[in-house]
Amino acid sequence: MQSTGDPARVPAPLATDLDGGCPVDVGETNGVGPARRGRLTSGIEAWLVTRYDEVDAALVDPRLVLSAPDVEAELVARGELPRRFAGQLQRARRSLLSTDPPEHTRLRRLVASSFTARRVDALRPRAEQVCEDLALALGKESASGDAVDLVDSYALPLPVVMICELLGVPTEDREDFRKWTNAIVFDQGDGPAVARYQAASASLDDYFGALVERKRDHPADDLTSALVAAHDGGSSLDAAELRTMLALLLVAGHETTVNLIGSSVLTLLRSPRQFAALRAHPELMADAVEECLRHVGPVGFSSLRFTTADLELGEVTIPAGQAVALGLWAADHDRGRFPDPAEFDIGRPDNRHLAFGRGAHFCVGANLARMEAQVAVHTLLRHFDDVSLAVPENELRWRMANTRGLVELPVRLTATIP
Ligand code: HEM
Repeated sequence: MQSTGDPARVPAPLATDLDGGCPVDVGETNGVGPARRGRLTSGIEAWLVTRYDEVDAALVDPRLVLSAPDVEAELVARGELPRRFAGQLQRARRSLLSTDPPEHTRLRRLVASSFTARRVDALRPRAEQVCEDLALALGKESASGDAVDLVDSYALPLPVVMICELLGVPTEDREDFRKWTNAIVFDQGDGPAVARYQAASASLDDYFGALVERKRDHPADDLTSALVAAHDGGSSLDAAELRTMLALLLVAGHETTVNLIGSSVLTLLRSPRQFAALRAHPELMADAVEECLRHVGPVGFSSLRFTTADLELGEVTIPAGQAVALGLWAADHDRGRFPDPAEFDIGRPDNRHLAFGRGAHFCVGANLARMEAQVAVHTLLRHFDDVSLAVPENELRWRMANTRGLVELPVRLTATIP
């Protein structure tokens, strides 16, 4: 497909601040080599892999694992892994993102079938209906010409409603989830953040403990009931694993997608010609969302991995027993892989990005996230002839952790005349 031109550059804070202070210049990943030592804002000292080919290969390399208790203990002793982080890993020991095959395979099999392309296609009409209602409400809210916040009133509710319905979680509880998810995703620092993180994790765990009991008594057609039945039916999913799985799906299932929708709309606003091309050719929507994932993918680094043997990555060898973070965003901005990576181009011909990772841990919710973002942008385009930023771009605030997204996106909307 031909490029539609109209470069839209990522602003400096996005392009250079990969981990809220981590000194990785994603624009120059070719110049800095495949990997180097660095410190993440969470305080973890690790090898940061930043070049596309090496990140791509490392994601499927069996010498890199997510669970290595001995290595973690040693890293804690050396002061490279904060004790509280090792503790976090300990508690979440048997989640999808802290296990390796075959344990990981057992856990993944229980949920993967709920997120296949076919299952997600069946959810599309519901997503369309949710977006339609949200867009109608936005139209009313903005009729007087006042600015509306697209994050709070649009990008947020869709993924929350979808994942809550999928899991069978009452949507009324979403304010609590938002609070807990925020703490889990963004309270990664020291001091009071640790207590907030721990309190939120405990609340989520308690919540799902109670929900499991309710679903056991009153099973419904939802994923929680299916997982409870699997557990009760003798599957090897134990009670703690069940709660951990539900919490992971809820947290992973909305935070990143909210950020993708918000960042995608902003990216399109910065790129009027591409926005217009998409309006004229809505069939380009899937390509546009893929380019948004590459250009402003919400996840900075993979989950932390550990080397079980020496690992050669290009001209660098990472010794055994080290922590490694794979820079997904850095890889997706590697000019060796993507010509002019800072350009936003929905017609980019070869766009195999790594925003969802790769290999055994490839995002289980990728189909769902893609579908939600496509429906959200499409519905917005249909309902509003004009969408424009209501504040200067440099006043927009970003929430930066390993996941990044807009705090709010104030816009003015002109409704399409029916
Ligand atoms: C734009 C939205 C999303 C992005 C960018 C994203 C990104 C990712 C990435 C990069 C990984 C792999 C991490 C690694 O290998 O260390 C991952 C894993 C995962 N994601 Fe997503 N995700 C998104 C949406 C979702 C949704 C909607 C769900 C919920 C259903 C979800 C659930 C998960 C789970 C459960 C895993 C762990 C998979 C495993 O370890 O087998 N994600 N995601």
